[in-house]
Amino acid sequence: MVNIKLSNRARNTPPSPIRKLAHLANNARRSGTHVYALNIGQPDIESPQEFFDGLNLFKQKIVAYDQSQGNENLCKAWSRYVNRTLQVQTSPEQFLITMGASEALVFLFMTCCDPGDEVIIFDPTYANYLGFAAVAGVTLVPILSNMEDNFALPAKNVIEQKITNRTRAILLCSPNNPTGTVYGRGELQFVLDLCEEHNIFLIVDETYREFVYDELEPLSILHLAPNNRRVIVVDSLSKRFSLCGARIGCLLTSNEEVLSTALHIAQARLAAPTIDQFASAHMLYNIKDDYLENARNEFQARRDALYYALREIPNVTVHRPKGAFYTIAQLPVDNAEAFATYLLSQFSCGGKTTFIAPAAGFYMQNSQGTKKARFAFVLKKSEIEAAIEVLAAGLLQYLRQQP
Ligand SMILES: Cc1ncc(COP(=O)(O)O)c(C=O)c1O
Repeated sequence: MVNIKLSNRARNTPPSPIRKLAHLANNARRSGTHVYALNIGQPDIESPQEFFDGLNLFKQKIVAYDQSQGNENLCKAWSRYVNRTLQVQTSPEQFLITMGASEALVFLFMTCCDPGDEVIIFDPTYANYLGFAAVAGVTLVPILSNMEDNFALPAKNVIEQKITNRTRAILLCSPNNPTGTVYGRGELQFVLDLCEEHNIFLIVDETYREFVYDELEPLSILHLAPNNRRVIVVDSLSKRFSLCGARIGCLLTSNEEVLSTALHIAQARLAAPTIDQFASAHMLYNIKDDYLENARNEFQARRDALYYALREIPNVTVHRPKGAFYTIAQLPVDNAEAFATYLLSQFSCGGKTTFIAPAAGFYMQNSQGTKKARFAFVLKKSEIEAAIEVLAAGLLQYLRQQP
Protein backbone atom coordinates (compact mmCIF):
# COMPACT_ATOMS: atom_id res chain seq x y z
CA MET A 1 0.00 0.00 0.00
CA VAL A 2 1.25 3.49 -0.81
CA ASN A 3 1.16 5.56 2.34
CA ILE A 4 0.86 9.11 1.02
CA LYS A 5 -1.53 11.47 2.73
CA LEU A 6 -4.53 12.58 0.69
CA SER A 7 -6.03 16.06 0.92
CA ASN A 8 -8.26 17.12 3.75
CA ARG A 9 -10.26 19.00 1.14
CA ALA A 10 -11.37 15.77 -0.53
CA ARG A 11 -11.60 13.77 2.66
CA ASN A 12 -13.76 16.39 4.33
CA THR A 13 -16.15 16.61 1.39
CA PRO A 14 -19.25 14.78 2.57
CA PRO A 15 -20.48 11.84 0.47
CA SER A 16 -23.63 12.51 -1.52
CA PRO A 17 -26.65 11.74 0.69
CA ILE A 18 -28.46 10.68 -2.45
CA ARG A 19 -25.91 8.07 -3.40
CA LYS A 20 -24.71 7.07 0.05
CA LEU A 21 -27.00 4.05 0.28
CA ALA A 22 -26.85 3.20 -3.43
CA HIS A 23 -24.78 0.05 -2.82
CA LEU A 24 -27.59 -1.31 -0.63
CA ALA A 25 -30.11 -0.58 -3.37
CA ASN A 26 -27.85 -2.41 -5.83
CA ASN A 27 -27.63 -5.40 -3.50
CA ALA A 28 -31.41 -5.44 -3.17
CA ARG A 29 -31.79 -5.31 -6.96
CA ARG A 30 -29.24 -8.08 -7.39
CA SER A 31 -31.23 -10.29 -5.06
CA GLY A 32 -34.31 -9.71 -7.20
CA THR A 33 -36.10 -6.98 -5.19
CA HIS A 34 -37.71 -4.18 -7.17
CA VAL A 35 -36.49 -0.85 -5.77
CA TYR A 36 -38.67 2.25 -6.16
CA ALA A 37 -36.05 5.01 -6.38
CA LEU A 38 -37.41 8.12 -4.70
CA ASN A 39 -33.91 9.11 -3.64
CA ILE A 40 -32.57 10.84 -6.73
CA GLY A 41 -33.80 13.66 -8.96
CA GLN A 42 -33.31 11.87 -12.24
CA PRO A 43 -36.38 12.76 -14.31
CA ASP A 44 -37.91 9.87 -16.25
CA ILE A 45 -39.70 12.00 -18.85
CA GLU A 46 -38.27 11.50 -22.34
CA SER A 47 -35.77 14.10 -23.48
CA PRO A 48 -37.11 16.29 -26.33
CA GLN A 49 -36.99 14.84 -29.85
CA GLU A 50 -35.50 18.18 -30.93
CA PHE A 51 -32.35 17.34 -28.95
CA PHE A 52 -31.93 14.02 -30.78
CA ASP A 53 -32.65 15.74 -34.10
CA GLY A 54 -29.82 18.12 -33.21
CA LEU A 55 -27.48 15.20 -32.55
CA ASN A 56 -28.31 13.76 -35.98
CA LEU A 57 -27.58 17.08 -37.64
CA PHE A 58 -24.01 17.14 -36.33
CA LYS A 59 -22.01 16.34 -39.45
CA GLN A 60 -18.53 17.65 -38.69
CA LYS A 61 -15.69 15.25 -39.41
CA ILE A 62 -13.72 16.26 -36.32
CA VAL A 63 -15.16 16.69 -32.85
CA ALA A 64 -13.11 19.78 -32.06
CA TYR A 65 -13.04 21.93 -28.92
CA ASP A 66 -15.68 24.61 -28.93
CA GLN A 67 -15.05 28.11 -27.55
CA SER A 68 -14.33 28.28 -23.83
CA GLN A 69 -17.23 30.66 -23.19
CA GLY A 70 -19.55 28.27 -24.98
CA ASN A 71 -20.80 27.58 -28.45
CA GLU A 72 -21.84 30.88 -30.02
CA ASN A 73 -25.02 29.45 -31.45
CA LEU A 74 -25.99 27.93 -28.11
CA CYS A 75 -25.51 31.25 -26.31
CA LYS A 76 -27.77 32.87 -28.92
CA ALA A 77 -30.37 30.11 -28.70
CA TRP A 78 -30.40 30.13 -24.88
CA SER A 79 -30.65 33.91 -24.72
CA ARG A 80 -33.49 33.90 -27.23
CA TYR A 81 -35.24 31.08 -25.35
CA VAL A 82 -34.98 32.88 -22.01
CA ASN A 83 -36.16 36.15 -23.55
CA ARG A 84 -39.13 34.49 -25.19
CA THR A 85 -40.26 32.35 -22.28
CA LEU A 86 -39.59 34.80 -19.43
CA GLN A 87 -40.19 38.06 -21.29
CA VAL A 88 -36.80 39.45 -20.32
CA GLN A 89 -33.99 41.00 -22.34
CA THR A 90 -30.75 39.08 -22.16
CA SER A 91 -28.02 39.03 -24.79
CA PRO A 92 -25.86 36.04 -25.81
CA GLU A 93 -22.74 37.75 -24.44
CA GLN A 94 -24.17 37.47 -20.92
CA PHE A 95 -23.95 33.67 -21.04
CA LEU A 96 -21.04 31.45 -20.14
CA ILE A 97 -21.79 27.82 -21.01
CA THR A 98 -20.67 25.27 -18.44
CA MET A 99 -20.79 21.51 -17.88
CA GLY A 100 -24.07 21.62 -16.04
CA ALA A 101 -25.11 23.99 -13.29
CA SER A 102 -22.54 22.12 -11.21
CA GLU A 103 -19.61 23.58 -13.08
CA ALA A 104 -21.23 27.03 -13.14
CA LEU A 105 -21.39 26.93 -9.34
CA VAL A 106 -17.76 25.86 -9.01
CA PHE A 107 -16.74 28.66 -11.40
CA LEU A 108 -18.74 31.17 -9.39
CA PHE A 109 -17.34 30.13 -6.04
CA MET A 110 -13.84 30.39 -7.53
CA THR A 111 -14.57 33.70 -9.25
CA CYS A 112 -16.38 35.51 -6.45
CA CYS A 113 -14.42 34.12 -3.50
CA ASP A 114 -10.89 33.59 -2.32
CA PRO A 115 -10.22 30.58 -0.10
CA GLY A 116 -11.77 31.24 3.29
CA ASP A 117 -14.38 33.67 1.96
CA GLU A 118 -17.95 32.94 2.90
CA VAL A 119 -21.18 32.27 1.03
CA ILE A 120 -24.49 32.22 2.88
CA ILE A 121 -26.91 29.40 2.11
CA PHE A 122 -30.18 28.31 3.63
CA ASP A 123 -30.32 24.98 5.41
CA PRO A 124 -31.49 22.40 4.26
CA THR A 125 -29.59 22.84 1.05
CA TYR A 126 -28.64 21.11 -2.18
CA ALA A 127 -25.97 18.82 -0.78
CA ASN A 128 -23.54 19.22 -3.66
CA TYR A 129 -23.07 22.89 -2.76
CA LEU A 130 -20.91 21.51 0.05
CA GLY A 131 -18.74 19.65 -2.43
CA PHE A 132 -18.40 22.68 -4.74
CA ALA A 133 -17.46 24.86 -1.78
CA ALA A 134 -14.90 22.33 -0.57
CA VAL A 135 -13.27 22.25 -4.00
CA ALA A 136 -13.11 26.05 -4.11
CA GLY A 137 -12.03 26.45 -0.48
CA VAL A 138 -15.17 28.47 0.24
CA THR A 139 -16.82 28.43 3.65
CA LEU A 140 -20.57 27.94 3.42
CA VAL A 141 -22.48 29.63 6.21
CA PRO A 142 -25.83 27.90 6.76
CA ILE A 143 -28.90 29.63 8.11
CA LEU A 144 -31.72 27.36 9.15
CA SER A 145 -35.12 27.45 7.47
CA ASN A 146 -37.85 25.51 9.24
CA MET A 147 -40.28 22.96 7.92
CA GLU A 148 -42.94 24.34 10.27
CA ASP A 149 -42.72 27.67 8.36
CA ASN A 150 -42.71 25.95 4.98
CA PHE A 151 -38.98 26.62 4.79
CA ALA A 152 -39.57 30.36 4.51
CA LEU A 153 -36.54 32.64 4.52
CA PRO A 154 -35.28 33.64 7.96
CA ALA A 155 -35.79 37.21 9.23
CA LYS A 156 -33.48 40.01 8.17
CA ASN A 157 -31.68 40.28 11.51
CA VAL A 158 -31.04 36.51 11.54
CA ILE A 159 -29.39 36.69 8.14
CA GLU A 160 -27.49 39.87 8.97
CA GLN A 161 -25.97 38.26 12.04
CA LYS A 162 -24.20 35.86 9.68
CA ILE A 163 -22.85 38.48 7.29
CA THR A 164 -19.19 39.19 7.99
CA ASN A 165 -16.42 40.99 6.15
CA ARG A 166 -15.62 37.65 4.46
CA THR A 167 -19.15 37.22 3.06
CA ARG A 168 -19.12 37.45 -0.72
CA ALA A 169 -22.54 36.16 -1.71
CA ILE A 170 -25.90 34.74 -0.78
CA LEU A 171 -26.74 31.63 -2.75
CA LEU A 172 -30.44 31.05 -3.18
CA CYS A 173 -32.03 28.03 -4.86
CA SER A 174 -35.56 28.52 -6.17
CA PRO A 175 -37.51 26.35 -6.80
CA ASN A 176 -35.61 24.62 -4.08
CA ASN A 177 -33.86 21.31 -3.87
CA PRO A 178 -34.42 19.62 -1.38
CA THR A 179 -37.58 21.34 -0.08
CA GLY A 180 -39.59 22.20 -3.21
CA THR A 181 -40.10 25.70 -1.82
CA VAL A 182 -40.57 28.46 -4.38
CA TYR A 183 -39.60 31.97 -3.32
CA GLY A 184 -41.97 34.67 -4.53
CA ARG A 185 -41.21 38.21 -5.68
CA GLY A 186 -41.29 39.56 -2.14
CA GLU A 187 -38.71 37.06 -0.91
CA LEU A 188 -36.43 37.56 -3.90
CA GLN A 189 -36.62 41.34 -3.46
CA PHE A 190 -35.87 40.94 0.26
CA VAL A 191 -32.68 38.99 -0.44
CA LEU A 192 -31.71 41.32 -3.26
CA ASP A 193 -32.08 44.34 -0.95
CA LEU A 194 -29.93 42.62 1.66
CA CYS A 195 -27.24 41.97 -0.94
CA GLU A 196 -27.40 45.61 -2.04
CA GLU A 197 -27.14 46.83 1.52
CA HIS A 198 -24.13 44.65 2.30
CA ASN A 199 -22.53 44.86 -1.14
CA ILE A 200 -22.40 41.15 -1.84
CA PHE A 201 -23.38 39.00 -4.83
CA LEU A 202 -26.73 37.30 -5.17
CA ILE A 203 -26.38 33.94 -6.91
CA VAL A 204 -29.70 32.33 -7.79
CA ASP A 205 -29.76 28.69 -8.82
CA GLU A 206 -32.72 28.45 -11.21
CA THR A 207 -32.15 24.86 -12.29
CA TYR A 208 -35.85 24.05 -11.61
CA ARG A 209 -37.31 27.40 -12.67
CA GLU A 210 -40.10 26.04 -14.88
CA PHE A 211 -41.21 23.37 -12.43
CA VAL A 212 -43.72 25.37 -10.40
CA TYR A 213 -47.21 24.20 -9.49
CA ASP A 214 -50.63 25.43 -8.43
CA GLU A 215 -50.86 28.09 -11.15
CA LEU A 216 -47.53 29.70 -10.21
CA GLU A 217 -45.67 31.25 -13.13
CA PRO A 218 -41.92 30.65 -13.55
CA LEU A 219 -40.15 33.50 -11.81
CA SER A 220 -36.56 34.52 -12.38
CA ILE A 221 -34.44 36.96 -10.44
CA LEU A 222 -34.04 38.59 -13.87
CA HIS A 223 -37.67 39.72 -13.62
CA LEU A 224 -36.78 41.84 -10.60
CA ALA A 225 -33.23 42.84 -11.45
CA PRO A 226 -32.68 42.51 -15.19
CA ASN A 227 -29.42 44.44 -15.33
CA ASN A 228 -28.13 44.27 -11.81
CA ARG A 229 -24.42 43.56 -11.80
CA ARG A 230 -24.48 41.83 -8.42
CA VAL A 231 -26.96 39.23 -9.67
CA ILE A 232 -25.83 35.96 -11.23
CA VAL A 233 -28.22 33.28 -12.46
CA VAL A 234 -27.16 29.64 -12.58
CA ASP A 235 -29.15 27.65 -15.09
CA SER A 236 -29.16 24.15 -16.54
CA LEU A 237 -30.83 22.03 -19.19
CA SER A 238 -30.51 18.92 -17.00
CA LYS A 239 -33.87 18.85 -15.27
CA ARG A 240 -35.94 21.08 -17.50
CA PHE A 241 -35.43 18.90 -20.54
CA SER A 242 -34.46 15.61 -18.90
CA LEU A 243 -30.92 16.12 -20.18
CA CYS A 244 -28.94 15.34 -17.03
CA GLY A 245 -26.39 13.38 -19.03
CA ALA A 246 -25.79 16.08 -21.64
CA ARG A 247 -24.00 18.17 -18.99
CA ILE A 248 -25.06 21.56 -20.28
CA GLY A 249 -25.57 24.51 -17.95
CA CYS A 250 -24.65 28.15 -17.84
CA LEU A 251 -24.09 31.18 -15.72
CA LEU A 252 -25.88 34.30 -16.83
CA THR A 253 -25.10 37.81 -15.64
CA SER A 254 -24.85 41.37 -16.87
CA ASN A 255 -21.61 41.70 -14.91
CA GLU A 256 -18.87 41.67 -17.59
CA GLU A 257 -16.14 41.45 -14.97
CA VAL A 258 -17.59 38.26 -13.49
CA LEU A 259 -17.93 36.81 -16.98
CA SER A 260 -14.44 37.73 -18.13
CA THR A 261 -12.85 36.53 -14.87
CA ALA A 262 -14.80 33.27 -14.83
CA LEU A 263 -13.64 32.83 -18.42
CA HIS A 264 -10.06 32.44 -17.16
CA ILE A 265 -11.19 29.32 -15.34
CA ALA A 266 -13.32 28.22 -18.28
CA GLN A 267 -10.29 28.51 -20.55
CA ALA A 268 -8.26 26.32 -18.22
CA ARG A 269 -10.80 23.53 -18.67
CA LEU A 270 -10.91 24.32 -22.40
CA ALA A 271 -14.56 23.81 -23.36
CA ALA A 272 -17.93 22.21 -22.66
CA PRO A 273 -18.91 19.20 -24.83
CA THR A 274 -19.14 20.17 -28.51
CA ILE A 275 -21.85 17.78 -29.68
CA ASP A 276 -24.13 18.31 -26.70
CA GLN A 277 -23.88 22.07 -27.15
CA PHE A 278 -24.67 21.72 -30.84
CA ALA A 279 -27.73 19.57 -30.15
CA SER A 280 -28.87 21.82 -27.28
CA ALA A 281 -28.79 24.88 -29.54
CA HIS A 282 -30.91 23.09 -32.12
CA MET A 283 -33.32 22.02 -29.40
CA LEU A 284 -33.68 25.48 -27.85
CA TYR A 285 -34.43 27.04 -31.24
CA ASN A 286 -37.04 24.45 -32.07
CA ILE A 287 -38.62 23.22 -28.85
CA LYS A 288 -42.39 23.67 -28.53
CA ASP A 289 -43.88 25.17 -25.38
CA ASP A 290 -46.05 22.11 -24.79
CA TYR A 291 -43.00 20.01 -23.88
CA LEU A 292 -42.59 21.85 -20.59
CA GLU A 293 -46.32 22.32 -20.05
CA ASN A 294 -46.79 18.56 -20.24
CA ALA A 295 -43.82 17.92 -17.98
CA ARG A 296 -45.09 20.44 -15.48
CA ASN A 297 -48.59 18.89 -15.40
CA GLU A 298 -47.09 15.46 -14.99
CA PHE A 299 -44.90 16.53 -12.07
CA GLN A 300 -47.78 18.34 -10.40
CA ALA A 301 -49.87 15.15 -10.53
CA ARG A 302 -46.93 13.22 -9.07
CA ARG A 303 -46.43 15.85 -6.38
CA ASP A 304 -50.07 15.45 -5.38
CA ALA A 305 -49.82 11.66 -5.39
CA LEU A 306 -46.75 11.73 -3.16
CA TYR A 307 -48.02 14.41 -0.83
CA TYR A 308 -51.41 12.80 -0.21
CA ALA A 309 -49.98 9.31 0.13
CA LEU A 310 -47.41 10.44 2.71
CA ARG A 311 -50.01 12.43 4.61
CA GLU A 312 -52.05 9.28 5.08
CA ILE A 313 -49.28 7.57 7.07
CA PRO A 314 -49.78 8.04 10.82
CA ASN A 315 -47.27 10.40 12.46
CA VAL A 316 -45.65 11.43 9.21
CA THR A 317 -45.51 15.18 8.57
CA VAL A 318 -44.93 16.23 5.00
CA HIS A 319 -44.18 19.58 3.44
CA ARG A 320 -46.33 20.48 0.43
CA PRO A 321 -43.84 21.56 -2.24
CA LYS A 322 -44.70 24.28 -4.74
CA GLY A 323 -41.93 23.51 -7.19
CA ALA A 324 -39.00 21.35 -8.28
CA PHE A 325 -39.61 17.65 -7.74
CA TYR A 326 -38.72 17.09 -4.13
CA THR A 327 -40.18 17.30 -0.72
CA ILE A 328 -39.10 16.67 2.85
CA ALA A 329 -41.07 14.59 5.31
CA GLN A 330 -40.58 14.05 8.99
CA LEU A 331 -40.84 10.36 9.90
CA PRO A 332 -41.78 8.81 13.26
CA VAL A 333 -38.32 7.26 13.63
CA ASP A 334 -35.25 8.21 15.65
CA ASN A 335 -32.98 8.01 12.66
CA ALA A 336 -34.17 8.23 9.06
CA GLU A 337 -30.88 6.87 7.74
CA ALA A 338 -31.24 3.72 9.84
CA PHE A 339 -34.79 3.37 8.53
CA ALA A 340 -33.72 3.93 4.90
CA THR A 341 -31.00 1.33 5.39
CA TYR A 342 -33.53 -1.09 6.85
CA LEU A 343 -35.85 -0.62 3.86
CA LEU A 344 -33.04 -1.50 1.47
CA SER A 345 -31.34 -4.27 3.37
CA GLN A 346 -33.90 -6.01 5.54
CA PHE A 347 -37.33 -5.31 4.15
CA SER A 348 -39.39 -6.06 1.10
CA CYS A 349 -43.09 -6.25 0.52
CA GLY A 350 -44.22 -8.44 -2.40
CA GLY A 351 -40.65 -8.35 -3.69
CA LYS A 352 -40.52 -4.54 -3.60
CA THR A 353 -38.91 -1.86 -1.50
CA THR A 354 -38.46 1.93 -1.53
CA PHE A 355 -35.29 3.99 -1.63
CA ILE A 356 -35.46 7.36 0.15
CA ALA A 357 -32.70 9.87 0.84
CA PRO A 358 -32.08 10.53 4.54
CA ALA A 359 -32.33 14.30 5.01
CA ALA A 360 -29.40 14.72 7.41
CA GLY A 361 -27.08 15.01 4.43
CA PHE A 362 -29.06 18.01 3.15
CA TYR A 363 -28.55 19.89 6.39
CA MET A 364 -25.19 21.39 7.19
CA GLN A 365 -26.50 21.25 10.73
CA ASN A 366 -27.01 17.48 10.28
CA SER A 367 -29.00 16.89 13.43
CA GLN A 368 -31.85 19.00 12.04
CA GLY A 369 -32.45 16.30 9.45
CA THR A 370 -32.04 13.18 11.57
CA LYS A 371 -35.72 12.26 11.52
CA LYS A 372 -36.43 13.55 8.05
CA ALA A 373 -36.08 12.20 4.52
CA ARG A 374 -36.12 13.76 1.09
CA PHE A 375 -38.45 12.29 -1.50
CA ALA A 376 -38.05 12.90 -5.23
CA PHE A 377 -41.26 12.52 -7.24
CA VAL A 378 -39.65 11.38 -10.45
CA LEU A 379 -41.56 8.14 -10.95
CA LYS A 380 -44.95 7.70 -12.56
CA LYS A 381 -47.92 8.45 -10.31
CA SER A 382 -48.90 4.78 -9.95
CA GLU A 383 -45.33 3.86 -9.01
CA ILE A 384 -45.17 6.67 -6.44
CA GLU A 385 -48.36 5.40 -4.86
CA ALA A 386 -47.00 1.85 -4.80
CA ALA A 387 -43.67 3.09 -3.39
CA ILE A 388 -45.37 4.87 -0.51
CA GLU A 389 -47.57 1.88 0.22
CA VAL A 390 -44.41 -0.23 0.50
CA LEU A 391 -42.77 2.44 2.65
CA ALA A 392 -45.79 2.55 4.99
CA ALA A 393 -45.66 -1.23 5.41
CA GLY A 394 -41.91 -1.02 6.04
CA LEU A 395 -42.40 1.70 8.61
CA LEU A 396 -44.96 -0.33 10.51
CA GLN A 397 -42.68 -3.34 10.61
CA TYR A 398 -39.64 -1.23 11.52
CA LEU A 399 -41.44 0.43 14.43
CA ARG A 400 -42.61 -2.92 15.74
CA GLN A 401 -39.04 -4.12 15.89
CA GLN A 402 -37.79 -1.06 17.76
CA PRO A 403 -37.17 -1.58 21.48
C1 LIG B 1 -30.38 22.76 -7.12
C2 LIG B 1 -29.48 22.10 -8.09
N1 LIG B 1 -28.50 22.81 -8.62
C3 LIG B 1 -27.64 22.26 -9.49
C4 LIG B 1 -27.74 20.94 -9.85
C5 LIG B 1 -26.74 20.36 -10.80
O1 LIG B 1 -27.30 20.21 -12.05
P1 LIG B 1 -26.46 19.91 -13.36
O2 LIG B 1 -26.88 18.58 -13.83
O3 LIG B 1 -26.91 20.99 -14.30
O4 LIG B 1 -25.03 20.01 -13.02
C6 LIG B 1 -28.76 20.15 -9.31
C7 LIG B 1 -28.87 18.72 -9.66
O5 LIG B 1 -29.57 17.94 -9.05
C8 LIG B 1 -29.65 20.75 -8.41
O6 LIG B 1 -30.62 20.05 -7.84
